[in-house]
Order: sequence, then structure tokens, then C-alpha cells
Amino acid sequence: MSVIEDVKQKTDIVDVIGQQVSLKKAGRNLSGLCPFHAEKNPSFFVYPEQQSWHCFGCNRGGDVLSFVMRRDSLDFGEALRLLADRAGVIIPSRPEQDKGKEERDRLRQLNEAAAQYFHDLLVTSPAAEKARTYLNNRRFSADTINDFRLGYCLNSWESLKQHLLERGYTESELPTSGLLVETEDGKSHDRFRNKVIFPIQDIRGHVTGFGARVLDDSLPKYVNSPQTPLFDKSGSLYGINLAAPAIRQQATAVIVEGYVDVITAHQNGFNNVVASMGTSVTERQISALKKLTRNVVLALDADAAGKEAMLRGVSYENILEAEVKVATLPAGKDPDDVIKDNPENWRELLATAQPIMDYTFGMVTAELDLATARGKSLAAERLLPILAEIKDGVRRTHYLQKLARMIDVTLATLEAELSRVKPRPESRRRPVQPPKAAAPTARSILTSRLEEDCLALLLQHPELKENGADLVLEYFENSENREIFIAWQRDSDLQSLKKDLDTAIHEHFEAIAQRNLASNQVAQRYADYTRRLKEIYLKRLEAKRSEQLAFEVESKGTGADLAKLKEEGVETAVQLRIIHQQKRQRQP
Ligand code: UTP
Ligand code: MN
Repeated sequence: MSVIEDVKQKTDIVDVIGQQVSLKKAGRNLSGLCPFHAEKNPSFFVYPEQQSWHCFGCNRGGDVLSFVMRRDSLDFGEALRLLADRAGVIIPSRPEQDKGKEERDRLRQLNEAAAQYFHDLLVTSPAAEKARTYLNNRRFSADTINDFRLGYCLNSWESLKQHLLERGYTESELPTSGLLVETEDGKSHDRFRNKVIFPIQDIRGHVTGFGARVLDDSLPKYVNSPQTPLFDKSGSLYGINLAAPAIRQQATAVIVEGYVDVITAHQNGFNNVVASMGTSVTERQISALKKLTRNVVLALDADAAGKEAMLRGVSYENILEAEVKVATLPAGKDPDDVIKDNPENWRELLATAQPIMDYTFGMVTAELDLATARGKSLAAERLLPILAEIKDGVRRTHYLQKLARMIDVTLATLEAELSRVKPRPESRRRPVQPPKAAAPTARSILTSRLEEDCLALLLQHPELKENGADLVLEYFENSENREIFIAWQRDSDLQSLKKDLDTAIHEHFEAIAQRNLASNQVAQRYADYTRRLKEIYLKRLEAKRSEQLAFEVESKGTGADLAKLKEEGVETAVQLRIIHQQKRQRQP
């Protein structure tokens, strides 16, 4: 048995949740007020037999680990350790079997040595005079240069290389650092010659990579480290080490594009700013920020903002489970320019940031004539697919209503259109099944098996990543399987994926990654797994719903109403809503 299973076995979900939520018996289950959203009537349920929970109000659920993760904003490993302490289970600390670890430690030291070398040169070397003048012209103060550990690389082919060799690093390990360029004849030389250096640090201040800028108008303006075992540009945020405390404190993070934008912002007291480093924002960057705050503002020029809004805005919001805002920069200016003009303008710009959905609406409708039938149908055609992706039902409806008002049709019309964009799960149209009394443990073992088979297929066939959109996190009931799925979405390379996982999951991960699978008909089997997982998920939800319903009815004596609704073939969720309404109307 894995430590995770051990912890789960020695933990009763009712005790854990009962500490925080006052639970009352509801048939075989327990219910109470949901701790994750404000409500007056209980829609939060705990299922002792399945050791799971679900809230019908905010539609969240899972096992005991996911409850603790959400309650205390912990990651999987932290929640597991908290429960392990409580249950008296000892979690072995990180085993040193991690082969890549030694290499990464060594690279970290090497980066550190290079950053120090570049910085010392910038501050003291006569040869860095031009670089100092350049930074001075950009109005960077001495403190700023220190805080960001800015540096300079000499205009020479091998000065850094020689420096590192003298410090005991070997020819063979230098190339992996990305600090050198390898030429065809097998030689190598310094990558960042005659440039200002911007060390890129992770949240703990470890230097993972470098950006470098020319001192004049030549092109390319910037050169960055290539991908290395420590550095992946799309997962890094420039300035995060300095910005993290302010992001926590102000409960907002601002993402800009450039190194210089971050530095100017910080120098002017706007410390919650980080940069995506030129490329479009990535989901990994958003996930990293989520550990600090759910409020993210993108400060971008209109072009970039437009792209983010149309392509990925909703997926950022789904990750953050909150609204993303957009602050658009005046044409031709970047945050560096705006702040240097007048810091008040930056404050104003952020204060007037718009929810990304509203921004999207504005963009789409700006070029349409909404008085015409054609304009209306184009607006719906362009916006509905985006709205269909919004996971939060309340927000989705909010924007559906907005669209309905805008093009002057009823909400029902749009809802019908929306269901064509994204068909509703078929099980919701079937008549209600009575709750099954089947042994839940057997069922969950089968489900876990299916979850794991599906994960094994994903891990062993990276090409499936393109089909990954059909699979959603909620289909996985087990927290540890959810963790693996999240890591896979971020990174399908097995080694880096494993690094993202808590060591307590490694054993489970290895077992899945090495599972023997047939190697034919991969896409077909993937589609099949996805369908079955979805079906199980929906059935589970349905069963929970009807149990809840049965209980409500029993205890409040509205059985006749229920029978009638059932006979009319009304789906469970709707039955529940109607009965609630009827109850409310009966109360004086
Ligand atoms: P910009 O060209 O807008 O940079 O690119 P900037 O910060 O405004 O540049 P200056 O120094 O003020 O003229 C924004 C960001 O995009 C990345 C860098 O991270 C830069 O800060 N970038 C840009 C590159 O990586 N490579 C490039 O060639 C250009
Ligand atoms: Mn600039």
C-alpha cells in the first residue's frame, strides 16, 4: 500500500470536514453549508461510504485531500503531510534517487557564478563603462541594478568561459548551461557578448536563466538562454522573486511583456509586476501565479491583449477560478514609457482595467452593426464558443445575459444555441435512476483503475496531448491522479513531469508510467477511456443528486411533487430547483 492510500485509510473524511463544517445527517450522507461559497441553504454533501464530498452550489468535489487542499490553499504534498501527521503516518522525505537533481544543483551553482561574474563586471570593470552609461540613460538607479543583479558580458569570445573553467567547471558541463553557443566545428564561445545581462530568477531567487540586451539599436534586441534543465522560458516569470511578497500583500499580480518594464515598475514602487518575457502569456505562468493570488491583470498593448482575450483568456480564468483583467496600454507605449511619463498614469491604467470577457465583447462587437440581423448572428457566432468554455456556471450565465441584451434575443434562445456549440451531456436528458446501493468501494476501485489506465496511455503517448482537451480534471476522483493529470497538462515530458510531482506520488506515478499497455489503436482507446470516464463522472454526479433529492423529499414531505416531476421527465437538477422554489413559496 502506498503512503497516500495509508493516509486515506487512516483518515475519516467526516472527521476532517466536520471540524470546519457543521454537518447534519442527510439520509446515508451528511450535509452542511458549503465552506467554499456563501449560501443560506446547505448544498454541500459528504459521502462517508465513498469518502468523498461534493457541493451542488459551486459544483466542486473530490476526496479528503482535495478538500484540505482547497480549504487551506495547500498543494497536494502539503495537504498530504498535514493529514499524515494527523493520522500518524510517516512520509519518507525526498529520496536521493533523483538522478537529475545533482546535475541541476551543479547548474544552479554555475548560473550563480555567472550572474555574480556579470554583475561584478558591470559595477566595477572599466570595460563596462558603456553598459553603465546605457543603464543610466534608462534611469536605472544603483539600488535597482543591485536588486535585479543586472550585469554585463564583456565584448570577448571566451571571457565567461575562461572564468568558469578557472572556477572548476568542466568543458563538458558548460554547454548544458546555455551560457555558451556551440559552433559546428565542436567549439564553443560566450553567448551574450557585449550585452547587458538580466538574470532570470525563480521565486526562491535561484538564477535559472538569462536575458541579455544589446547596448544600441542593433537586432536582435534581446537574446535569452535556450531551454536547459533549469530554464524554460514559458514557465518562468521575470521578477517573480522580487514581486512575490507584494503580490501576496496586494492580492494582485500584474503581467507585462518586458524586462525593462518590470524594472521600471519596481523602481517606482509598483512591486507586484512580473514579465512574461515577450512571448504570449502561458497557462504555466498563470498556474504559478495562482499560488500567490487569483487576481491577475494583463498590461499589454492592444494587439497582444486582443490575442490573449480571444485565445486563452477563458482558460486563464478557469485555472485561476477568478476573473482576469486587461489593462490596455496607449498605442505605441509600453509600461516603461507610461511609468516614466508619469507614475500616476500607470495607477490609473490599472484602476480602469477591464474584465477580459468584457474586453472580448467590446472587441468583437466594435466591428459589427448590432442593429442588423447579420451583425447579431455574427456576434453570437464569435462569442458563444468562447462563453462555452467558461466553467463557472454563474459567470457563464452572466455573459450569456449580457450577449442576450446586446443582440436583443432571449436568454433561452442563446442557451439553445450554446448547447449546439457544446452539446450537453446526454445523461442529463435521461430519466432519473434511483440511487444504487452498490458497494461503493468496488466501484471506486474500478474507477481508479480506469483513471490509471487512461493516465498510463497519456504518459506513454505524448502525441495524445493534442486530443487532451476532451478530458477534464473533474473526471479524476483520486487526488493523486488529478495531480498527475495536471502535471501532464503542463508538461508531457516524463522526466520534467515527474519533477513537478510531489515525491510522495512518485511511486504511484512510476507504476502508472510503466504499466504494460497494448501499443495499437492509441487514439481509439484514448477516446474510449475519455468517454467512459466522463460517463462515470456524470453517473456519480447524477447518483449524488438524486440521493440529495430523495433526502430532501423524505424530510420535507414533498414526495408528491417529486413523483409528478419525475413523471414529466424533468431532469434531476431542475426537479431540485423546482422543489426548492415550491418550498420557499409555501413558507410564509
Ligand atoms: P520589447 O522589444 O517590447 O522590449 O520586448 P522592451 O523591454 O520594451 O525593450 P527596450 O529595452 O525597452 O527597448 C519585450 C520583451 O520581449 C522579449 C524581452 O523579454 C523583452 O523585454 N524579447 C524582445 C525577446 O526575448 N527577444 C527580442 O528580440 C525582443
Ligand atoms: Mn521598452
